[in-house]
Order: sequence, then C-alpha cells, then structure tokens
Amino acid sequence: MVDPRSALNDMSNTVCVVTGANSGIGKATAKELARLGAHVVMVCRDERRGRDAQAEIRAAAELAHPSRSDPVDLRIADLAVQEEVYHLGETIRAEYDRLDVLVNNAGVFLDTRHETADGIEATLAINHLAPFLLTHLVLPRLRDTAGRVGQSRIITVSSRAHRGARIDFDDLNAEASYNPFQAYAQSKLANILFTHELSRRLQDDGVVANAVHPGVVKTNIWRGTGWMSRIARLFSWFYKRPEEGAQSVVYLAASPEVSDVTGQYFQETEVVNPSPEAYDEKTETRLWRVSRALTGLAETDPPGPVQGEE
Ligand SMILES: NC(=O)c1ccc[n+]([C@@H]2O[C@H](COP(=O)([O-])OP(=O)(O)OC[C@H]3O[C@@H](n4cnc5c(N)ncnc54)[C@H](OP(=O)(O)O)[C@@H]3O)[C@@H](O)[C@H]2O)c1
Repeated sequence: MVDPRSALNDMSNTVCVVTGANSGIGKATAKELARLGAHVVMVCRDERRGRDAQAEIRAAAELAHPSRSDPVDLRIADLAVQEEVYHLGETIRAEYDRLDVLVNNAGVFLDTRHETADGIEATLAINHLAPFLLTHLVLPRLRDTAGRVGQSRIITVSSRAHRGARIDFDDLNAEASYNPFQAYAQSKLANILFTHELSRRLQDDGVVANAVHPGVVKTNIWRGTGWMSRIARLFSWFYKRPEEGAQSVVYLAASPEVSDVTGQYFQETEVVNPSPEAYDEKTETRLWRVSRALTGLAETDPPGPVQGEE
C-alpha cells in the first residue's frame, strides 16, 4: 500500500479545477491541493456554501504558505443545467491560461427521480453527463498545458457501487422505472467507461485520465435521503473522514508515481480491475455517442473518434 502523502509534487504554478468543492471529498481535495501550492478553482452550485468553503480553503493555504497568497477562486455553476456547464467551460477556457488538473468530483444520490431543466434524470445528468461535458469543454486547456509542461490530469470520482451495474440503454433516463441504487451505480459505471474511452482518445496528448473509488467516506451524499441517511448515520463510525477519502484523489492529482498512468480504476491508491461491464468496448463507444448527443456536442468536437467508432 502506497503512503498517499509520500512525495507529492509541489503544485505551485498549477491550476486545478475541483467540482463539488464546498463539501465532503471535494472540499478536502481542494484544501489539500491548495496546501500543496496549487491555484485552486472551486466549482460549487450554491454561492453561500461556496464562499464559506472558499474562506476555509484560503485559510488552510495561507497557513501552509504564510509568505504567499495563492489564489482560491470560486465559480458558481449548477452542473445539472447544461447551459451552466457550457458557461463554466467557457469561463475556465477564457480566464485560465493553463489547466493542470480537472477533478470531476461533484455527485449526488437521489432517492426519488428528478428531471433536470434539460429533461434528463438528475443522477445521470450530474454524475455522468456533467463531467463528460465539462471535460470536453476544457480539453483544449488541458491539451495546451500538457503540450507546454509535459502533462495534465483528469480524475473522475467513481465508486465501488458501480459493481453489479449495467448501462440500461433502453431506459437511460429512468422513465419506465427509477431505482435510486441502480441510478447511482449506473452513473458510477458510466464514470469508468467514460474514463477508459477518454484515455484511449488522449493517448498521444499527454493528458492522463483515471477514475477512483475513494473508500466509504462520511460526507453529505446521503443528506435528504430519508431512511438511507439514517442507515448511513448508524454505520458512520466505520467511515473514513473526508480528508482520508480525498487522499486517493490528491494522490492521482499530485503524485509523480502516477504521472504516466492512464485509463485505470483506482481503489484508494491501488489500481484494481473494475467490473467486467466497465471494460466493454462496445458499451464505452455506445455510451460515448449517446452522451455526446445528450449534451449537444457536435460529432467533430474533441477528442477525435477511436478506430471503428464512426
Ligand atoms: N461518500 C462516499 O462514501 C463516496 C464513495 C464513493 C464515491 N463517492 C463519490 O464522491 C463524490 C463526492 O461526494 P461526497 O461523498 O463528498 O458527497 P457530498 O459531501 O454530498 O459532496 C458532493 C458535492 O457535489 C456537489 N454537487 C451536487 N450536485 C451538484 C450540482 N448539480 N452542481 C454542482 N455541484 C453539485 C455538492 O454541492 P452541495 O453541497 O451544494 O449539494 C457537494 O459539493 C461523488 O461523486 C460521490 O459519488 C463518495
């Protein structure tokens, strides 16, 4: 087992975007990257919660580097709304001349079915389509940065919950039936399928992409889920703290040991095999095509097609 705190890169001069950075694993990741010297860009949906977390992360960065003031920026975007994701992507491209790390962390578990303004079941929209779309939109920056400094990294926070799931292309939007566990597990499987296909498409660009299960972590993910949140509270003594859950994400963002590793699924800091469904190339290609259509991305948008797709 690798000690995730060993030999992390100094992240000074890097720009790291973390979605869902006001709570749980995302906040702890943003804080640790800021302590390592990164210019952190927090993406949050609620201004007040975002500002509170920003103040906490700034204070942690200042404590780690009293002589500097590394910026901690806050961008407000509801990732359930594609127009806001498009706007966020544009802002990041316009305002930052480099992007070293994108952490697709924001996620939800929803015990009842909700539809977004775009008419998409919300778990699919937030947990899979938002990272799919945001990654495409900021890819030009990730590619430039890799071209200039040798590499950039995309980390998508998946979950062990993907095991046993499959992508239900016949009812992707859960209109016929909605099961919260299936919806969550399917979205976390989609994170791995996306990462795997993305890594293949980026193999010559110096941009690495990996997915990670951070462990079972005490966060707000079960908030508002009725009986699930009561069960989660009952077992919470057994969960990791957010700072411990974030270690694997920070390891993937900042460790030199994984600078060339791509297309992998990590359980904490170890590469493990995901479920067989997560390596089905036909499913990857089909999901890619469906996701592109659902997010309004043109066929020609980067990254380019893999052999046999079109
Ligand atoms: N906790 C675990 O045991 C565990 C295990 C495996 C994987 N994960 C994954 O870890 C990731 C982080 O979850 P967490 O456990 O840290 O839960 P959390 O404390 O609830 O954090 C989730 C973050 O995502 C944000 N978010 C949710 N919907 C959003 C939207 N529409 N637009 C923008 N931001 C949105 C939340 O913002 P608000 O605060 O405004 O809601 C919050 O900042 C998720 O992808 C989850 O699937 C968690």
